Amino acid sequence: MRICWCVLAFSYFVLALASKQKCSDCLCKSREVDCGNLQKAPNQLTFPKDKLDYRFEHNGLVSLDVHSFYLLTNMQWIYLTNNSLTKIPGKTFYKNADLHAVYLNNNNLTNLPSNLFSKTPNLQEFYCSDNQITHIDQYVFANLPKLTQLRLANNRLVAVHPMAFSTANALSTLYLEENLLETAYWTWIANMSLSATSEIELDANRWSCDCRMWPFVHSVTSHKQRLSVVRNSHLSLPMCPGPDGRKTALTDKTKHDLVCRKAFFNFPLNSSAVSINVDAVEGGNVNLTCSGHGMPIPHLTLFNEVQQTLITGIGHVCFEIKEVTRDQLGKYKCMMVGTDNKGHDLVVNKTINLRIDSSSKRPVSVGTILAILLSVIFVIGVASCFWRRQKSRDGYGSLENTGGGAAYYELDESKVPEYQTQATPLEEENLFSDEEVYSKGDDKEVLV
Ligand SMILES: *[C@@H]1O[C@H](CO)[C@@H](O)[C@H](O)[C@H]1NC(C)=O
Ligand SMILES: *[C@@H]1O[C@H](CO)[C@@H](O)[C@H](O)[C@H]1NC(C)=O
Ligand SMILES: *[C@@H]1O[C@H](CO)[C@@H](O)[C@H](O)[C@H]1NC(C)=O
Ligand SMILES: *[C@@H]1O[C@H](CO)[C@@H](O)[C@H](O)[C@H]1NC(C)=O
Ligand SMILES: *[C@@H]1O[C@H](CO)[C@@H](O)[C@H](O)[C@H]1NC(C)=O
Ligand SMILES: *[C@@H]1O[C@H](CO)[C@@H](O)[C@H](O)[C@H]1NC(C)=O
Repeated sequence: MRICWCVLAFSYFVLALASKQKCSDCLCKSREVDCGNLQKAPNQLTFPKDKLDYRFEHNGLVSLDVHSFYLLTNMQWIYLTNNSLTKIPGKTFYKNADLHAVYLNNNNLTNLPSNLFSKTPNLQEFYCSDNQITHIDQYVFANLPKLTQLRLANNRLVAVHPMAFSTANALSTLYLEENLLETAYWTWIANMSLSATSEIELDANRWSCDCRMWPFVHSVTSHKQRLSVVRNSHLSLPMCPGPDGRKTALTDKTKHDLVCRKAFFNFPLNSSAVSINVDAVEGGNVNLTCSGHGMPIPHLTLFNEVQQTLITGIGHVCFEIKEVTRDQLGKYKCMMVGTDNKGHDLVVNKTINLRIDSSSKRPVSVGTILAILLSVIFVIGVASCFWRRQKSRDGYGSLENTGGGAAYYELDESKVPEYQTQATPLEEENLFSDEEVYSKGDDKEVLV
C-alpha cells in the first residue's frame, strides 16, 4: 500500500508537543528506532532523544517534507530504503549535522538537489543505488570531506559532472555501474583515497570508446601505480564493445583507436534545406524518422511544435503518428547531439514539416466525380432515349437532334477539364518538392 506520509511532514509539530518518550508503533532499541516494514505511516513520531539511528524502510513513502527530520537533530543513520520516493527536498537534512549515513536505495528518485548535503559535513556513507537519477551536478557532494562510500549504481545517469567528486577526498568506494554514462573522467577518481578495501565500479554503462575517452585512458595508464592498490576484483573500468560483440578493455586502446567523427544527419535531413517536408494522408499513419551517423553515435530527439519531446534515441528515432489529424500537422524538430572530429559538442537541428499529401486525395476525388458524372450521363442518356422514344411516339420527332442528352454531354466535357486544371498545379508542386519527399503512398515511412 502506498501511503503519502504526510505525517512525517508535520512530525516536528508532534515532536515539539510530545514530552513523553515513547516509540509510537515503532520499535525502540538501544540506539535505534525501527519504524521499518510497517507498510504504513507510524501513528505517532515521538522518539526518545537518545536515539540516533532511524529505520523507515519499506513503508511506501512517496514524499518527504523539508521538515520531516528537523527535530531529529541527533540522527546519525537513516534508512529510507525500499520506499517510493520520487524526490527529496534539498533542505531535508538541514538540521542533521551529525548525519553519518543515508540509505536511499530502491526508491524512484530522479534528481539529487545541489544543496542536499550542504549541512551534513560528517556524512560518510551515501547509498542511492537502484533509483532513476539522471544527472549528478558539481555541487551535491562538494561539502563532504568525510564521505567514504558512494553508491549510485543502477540509476539512469547520463551525466556525472567531471568535478562531482573532486573534493570528496576520503572517498574509497564509488559505484557508478549500470547507468547510461558514455564518457568516463579521471577526475572522478583522481582524489579518491584508495586502499585495499576500495572499490571502483564503472562497468555496464553505455561507454562510447571515442576520442572523449582518451584523457581517461591516458590518466589511468599513467596512474597505474596508484590504482594498483585496489584489488582487481574491486576495480571494474569501462569496457569497449568489440566488432564481434565481445568487449575489450578500454585501457588497451591507443589514442589512434579512440576517434571522433563529425555527426551528420542521414539522408534526406542531411540536405542543405532548412526544413524537409513529410506528407501524410489524413486518417492514415505516418512515421517521423530521424537518423544520424558519427562517432560517438549522435543522440537524436524529436520535438513537436510546442517543444515537447516525442522520442529520444541514439542513432535513430522513429515516432509513429496514427490516424493523422489536421491538428497534428506542422513543424516538428529533430535535434542531433554529437561531436565534431575533435570531440567538441555539436548540436544540429532540422525542421520536419508534416503536411497533408494533397496528391493522394486528388485521384480519389477526381475519380469519384468522374464516376458520378458518368452515372449522371448514363441516367440522362437512358432517360432522354426513353423520352425521345416517347416523344416520337407522341409525334414530337422534330426535336430529336437538339435533344437534352447532347446538350448535357457538352456540359460534362467542359466540367471534366475544369477539375483537371485544378489538379495540375498541385501535382506540379509535388513534383517540385519531390527531392525532399522521401516516399509516397498511403502509409509512409519517412527517413529523415
Ligand atoms: C527491498 O525490496 C526488495 C524487493 O521487494 C527486496 O528484495 C529487498 O530485500 C528489500 N530490501 C530491504 C532493505 O528491505
Ligand atoms: C518506480 O516507479 C515505477 C513506475 O512509475 C514503478 O513501477 C516502480 O514500482 C517504482 N519503484 C519503486 C521502488 O517505487
Ligand atoms: C583534488 O583535490 C584538491 C584539493 O581539494 C583540488 O584542488 C583539486 O582540484 C582536486 N583534483 C581533482 C582532479 O579533482
Ligand atoms: C547525405 O547522405 C547520403 C547518404 O547517407 C550521402 O550520399 C550524401 O552525400 C549526403 N549529402 C550531404 C549533403 O551530406
Ligand atoms: C536546437 O533545438 C533545441 C531544442 O529546441 C534548442 O535548445 C537548441 O538551442 C537548438 N540548437 C541549435 C543549434 O539550433
Ligand atoms: C512505422 O514504423 C513501424 C515500426 O518500424 C512499422 O511497424 C509501421 O508499419 C510504420 N508505419 C508506417 C506508417 O510506415
